[in-house]
Amino acid sequence: MSSKILIIGACGQIGTELTTKLRELHGVDNIIASDINTRNLDLVNSGPFEIIDAKNYNAINDCCQQNNVKTVYLMAALLSATGEKYPMEAWDLNMNSLFHVLNLAKDKVIDKVFWPSSIAVFGPTTPRDNTPQHTICEPTTVYGITKQVGERWCEYYHDKYGVDVRSIRYPGIISHKAMPGGGTTDYAVEIYHEAIKKGKYECFLSENTELPMMFMEDAIIATVDLMHSPSDAVKIRSAYNLAAISFTPKQIFESIKKHMPEFTITYNPDFRQAIADSWPSSIDDNSARTDWNWKHNFDLETMTKVMLENLEKKYA
Ligand code: SER
Repeated sequence: MSSKILIIGACGQIGTELTTKLRELHGVDNIIASDINTRNLDLVNSGPFEIIDAKNYNAINDCCQQNNVKTVYLMAALLSATGEKYPMEAWDLNMNSLFHVLNLAKDKVIDKVFWPSSIAVFGPTTPRDNTPQHTICEPTTVYGITKQVGERWCEYYHDKYGVDVRSIRYPGIISHKAMPGGGTTDYAVEIYHEAIKKGKYECFLSENTELPMMFMEDAIIATVDLMHSPSDAVKIRSAYNLAAISFTPKQIFESIKKHMPEFTITYNPDFRQAIADSWPSSIDDNSARTDWNWKHNFDLETMTKVMLENLEKKYA
């Protein structure tokens, strides 16, 4: 049996588009999408799909053993805003799912792991501008704590047990397909949907809150490129800083307004403001650019154009 790739959390914002890309690259039959439920019927009906709870070691192990899965992308997680509401659930899901997959690699059931980290590993004591790869990481959210600790475990499993685990500190990811769920950077997706649907948006962050962001297409290319790089090129086994664009709510509003002059915005910051204030405004990703030739393609203006074009069609 040819070796297969398993995506856990395939119905989520990144999982959905990662599944599509991996099916294109490796063939539909070689990619097993999985999630805790069947919320994305297009994805469920368009290739192999299994219901898997990322917290269930036996379910992941059985799927890998029965299908000759050799690579796992673990995309299931509770994000920053939801994590603050359900701290123990975030800890339980984010950490145990990672241990399950790392242990399968340690036990040589699988060969390779992708696990996403986040800019949430940083905190208020981190240098905010052009945040270095190696710097102070004192996260103040449960989500950030799980990602920071997860990075330490990834490096540990690589160094001690030879596990081939690779990771990226994703910034906020913007896409027009699956919605993000429960993150602090979600406003940068919602704003496009509300612009098309209602012509106005109430933003839960203040107008000058600058955060690192990236268009989905770039994030998927980065993920696939990192996973396809030769092992010795992957020098960082915690997680790579990754950057594309940084902007504020005001700047994304203005870029939408160029296409929709009637569009209006109001600002009503909530608890997510404190989370955003603890994160960097921009990221130094030179290690990724040097080690595996990462480069981004989309800036704010090109992203806005693609987002509006696609959402106009979706809501037409
Ligand atoms: N997009 C995530 C969040 O806002 C950051 O990794 O929680």
